[in-house]
Amino acid sequence: VTFSLPTRLEDEVAQDLCEALTWPEQVRWVKTGSEATVAAMMIARRATGRTKIVSMGYHGWHECHQPGTWLVNVPMGQWETLCEAIDCTTAAVLLEPTRNVWDHDLEQKLEDVRGRCHQTGALLIMDEMVTGFRWAVGGISEYHRITPDLACYGKALGNGYPIACVVGSRHLMQHAVSVSSTFGGECIGLAAARAVLEVYQTEPVIGTLRHFGLRLLKACPETLTGWPVHPVFVGGEDYTTSARMIPLVRAIARRGHLTHPSGFNIMYAHTGKDVDSLAHAINEGRGEVG
Ligand SMILES: Cc1ncc(COP(=O)(O)O)c(C=O)c1O
Repeated sequence: VTFSLPTRLEDEVAQDLCEALTWPEQVRWVKTGSEATVAAMMIARRATGRTKIVSMGYHGWHECHQPGTWLVNVPMGQWETLCEAIDCTTAAVLLEPTRNVWDHDLEQKLEDVRGRCHQTGALLIMDEMVTGFRWAVGGISEYHRITPDLACYGKALGNGYPIACVVGSRHLMQHAVSVSSTFGGECIGLAAARAVLEVYQTEPVIGTLRHFGLRLLKACPETLTGWPVHPVFVGGEDYTTSARMIPLVRAIARRGHLTHPSGFNIMYAHTGKDVDSLAHAINEGRGEVG
């Protein structure tokens, strides 16, 4: 559902999102996470007049996310290497703040990156595509009280409907004018985001995700680890090792539950009964495959 001119809905949902996140002033709507992170890189380059991006994690399929002349991609979890790569030619650090490994020291690591960005004049972009609306409404930035310069949201924001965005201060977002997309302001995704924001405001979504995640982790202490909102199989914490979890995932699927070898998300639609039944399936499945 698209119209020739921007609609009020674009503006209204942008205001709702800024209120929910508290720190940004403006929003640019797109349809996918890949677009949002590319837009954030472009805004950072225009705002700083620099070209180099230092990234950690997965941010989308576009060619410009591949390591090359102007992009250094540091393997997930190598925080020292990340800080060393940030220098006075760096436009921005594009960070997937966490993935499948629970890290007790994450807040300090994020502060170190933030500090290094301040020292060098680089911007900090948080890719909250997975963490947003799950760890906290604002994702890891809110969870660890680290305010980025720009942040990207998508996935849970639309609860199944296609919508994503980049957010930031008015000062930085003035460089977003050339982020142009035929379907960026498409209204079904915006209506979905509005409904999601309303539910988060009126219902205990994050608390429920954590509560059910903890219940699951406690019920399967030898098989599951990680963040309560995103449990992972012990030994399958990353894509290089997760393949060995396939027999277990299949055994769980035979018992009626779909999981992912490298980690899965608790959903607000899940009930206590679902979680207990999943825990049972995981423990039985573990017993079957060893
Ligand atoms: C952290 C992160 N950033 C960006 C993306 C890209 O999002 P999309 O698939 O909507 O383009 C993903 C997708 O999995 C992601 O996990």
